[in-house]
Amino acid sequence: MEKIMILNGSPRAPRSNSKRYAAYVAKYSPWPTEYFEIRKNNHAQLRERMAEFSDVVLVFPLYADSLPVGVLNLLKSLEAAPPERRPVISVLVNCGFLEPGQNEIAVRIIRFFCRRNGYAFGSVLMAGSGEAILDTPFRFLVARKIRRLAGSIVRRRYEELRVTMPIGKRLFLMASTLYWVRYGKRFGVTRQQMQTPRIEG
Ligand SMILES: Cc1cc2nc3c(=O)[nH]c(=O)nc-3n(C[C@H](O)[C@H](O)[C@H](O)COP(=O)(O)O)c2cc1C
Repeated sequence: MEKIMILNGSPRAPRSNSKRYAAYVAKYSPWPTEYFEIRKNNHAQLRERMAEFSDVVLVFPLYADSLPVGVLNLLKSLEAAPPERRPVISVLVNCGFLEPGQNEIAVRIIRFFCRRNGYAFGSVLMAGSGEAILDTPFRFLVARKIRRLAGSIVRRRYEELRVTMPIGKRLFLMASTLYWVRYGKRFGVTRQQMQTPRIEG
């Protein structure tokens, strides 16, 4: 039976933007979906359940131009012990910067994993301004693209899609700087402190 396993690879999965993106996938998928979070200690369980699904949509944030370590570790586990049936893997990756192209390396890593390990690779949605866009009037652009992503998966006509806020870089930088400076202030952290590489002590 055709069924989609939605995997959230954010390290802060329960409070993550990825969770919100995953909810859109569930909303727009014509096939039944089930949502799971990737944790340190649930790889065996995820692998076992994976065999029940025709498709996986891997939803995760970009971390340092790459995959969060939790996603990397799951891929390593699957490499060591593959599921009984390999689903088609599609990707929905979101990043903080404006340009969806920032996510390209992460997508290449997943493609490489699929090629090496005998999984078919499905569709991709790369979202820029992923931290912000869902709280702006532009969220309809995300909804539209996720509907298209889901449609491409069920039609088996795979696509590479992109979405971001339709604003210039300069405006994005101004708005995001203002946002983070105000955010820091709420926690007693100044702009200067945020600009140092020291994160502890
Ligand atoms: C440790 C860390 C590293 C990040 N690295 C990048 C990056 O390299 N490029 C980028 O555009 N955004 C980066 N981001 C921003 C996240 O991709 C963005 O905030 C995303 O929406 C987080 O999604 P989540 O809530 O699902 O974890 C980083 C965030 C964190 C916390």
